[in-house]
Amino acid sequence: MAIDESQVTATVAAVIDPELRRPLGELGMVGRVGIKRKRVAIELALPVAHYPQVDELVQRVREAVGPLDGVAEVAVEPGVMDEEPRARLRMLLRGEPVDGGTQHAADDHPHAHGGQLGHEEGRPNRFMLPRSKTRIIGVSSGKGGVGKSSVTVNLAVALARMGYDVGILDADVYGFSVPKMLGVTEDPLIIGDLVVPPTANGVRCLSMGYFVPDDTPVIWRGPMLHKALEQFLVDAYWGEPDFLLIDMPPGTGDVTLSLGQYLTKTEVYVVTTPQPAAGRVAQRSAYAARKLKLAVRGVIENMSWFTGDDGKRYQLFGAGGGRQLADELGVPLLAQVPLVPTLRQGGDEGIPVMVADPASEASAVFEQLATAVLELGPARVYRKELTVR
Ligand SMILES: Nc1ncnc2c1ncn2[C@@H]1O[C@H](COP(=O)(O)OP(=O)(O)OP(=O)(O)O)[C@@H](O)[C@H]1O
Ligand SMILES: [Mg+2]
Repeated sequence: MAIDESQVTATVAAVIDPELRRPLGELGMVGRVGIKRKRVAIELALPVAHYPQVDELVQRVREAVGPLDGVAEVAVEPGVMDEEPRARLRMLLRGEPVDGGTQHAADDHPHAHGGQLGHEEGRPNRFMLPRSKTRIIGVSSGKGGVGKSSVTVNLAVALARMGYDVGILDADVYGFSVPKMLGVTEDPLIIGDLVVPPTANGVRCLSMGYFVPDDTPVIWRGPMLHKALEQFLVDAYWGEPDFLLIDMPPGTGDVTLSLGQYLTKTEVYVVTTPQPAAGRVAQRSAYAARKLKLAVRGVIENMSWFTGDDGKRYQLFGAGGGRQLADELGVPLLAQVPLVPTLRQGGDEGIPVMVADPASEASAVFEQLATAVLELGPARVYRKELTVR
């Protein structure tokens, strides 16, 4: 039976690119299709020469085309796309109107909704558009070292394992740690001036730390930080995640201020330890968030106890801090995460405990936490600017 060329082309066009998570046809990544008797040769037009996950992509194309009528052999030849399609792709990913595209140009402008959202001269903040489904989860703490990054990473993996599309923005300017903990091995993909966050353990992750030199300490000042945060949100390609988790710096600083101005729907979750003293510090960060009209949704207590071989719970850092903070803030205590050695080890080795040991006591808690966050649902944002007129 002869191979139907248009069927092959349509099949390849429908393959989802693992990196950009959209059909190849839409991305302009399908090159020439050649057919010689029972053999099909497919050229792919990749956005850049060293394309991450190219092997997975080739595999997907093979698996899609192989079973078609008459096909005995499939050869996939990855190449690089020309300047023009690349520019088009960049615009498409950015959500800018592309000729003949299906983007909603007018819709994409927040000012069309009468708000002061987004940056005046900058591009629209897609996450604040009324049709954006993304929940922004800001993970904060009063002081450092309480397990904020560990909670962020494992909550993200738990949500991803439930089938949600999840990204993490590592915005802890005092020490970027998320890529290492999540096990990211690739650098972000750069297409022109667009950054595509790499994926590890099913979670996309971008760290502001990628863009500062290792050996030069950067002092992040308010306006610069605000601009950087805006770029990482708007100029990066996040797709349309269900959740974007932000690892916030400890304390009451500028990142909270920026989120209060720029991502007003950010929900804040406060991580604390069981000592009541730690709770008082955490309370200040929660109050700072509230002052900026961000919704504080819940408290997560970490390092709550260690379960010994004898099955007994040892409360190494005291008890009651999480409960007390939650009560003072009038929000639920969403989880108590036990101390487990695999959690620390996993963080060091880039295998989150959710992946390294899904049966562990801590993993079960992260799953419950993910469920609790889902049950809470998105925060209701009461902002004058958002009133429908
Ligand atoms: N429940 C836990 N069980 C075992 N180890 C933990 C637990 N939570 C955190 N750790 C370990 O404690 C250390 C601090 O945790 P983490 O880096 O997540 O905290 P942080 O609040 O983000 O700190 P920083 O302020 O330095 O960013 C890490 O080595 C981590 O692996
Ligand atoms: Mg951290």
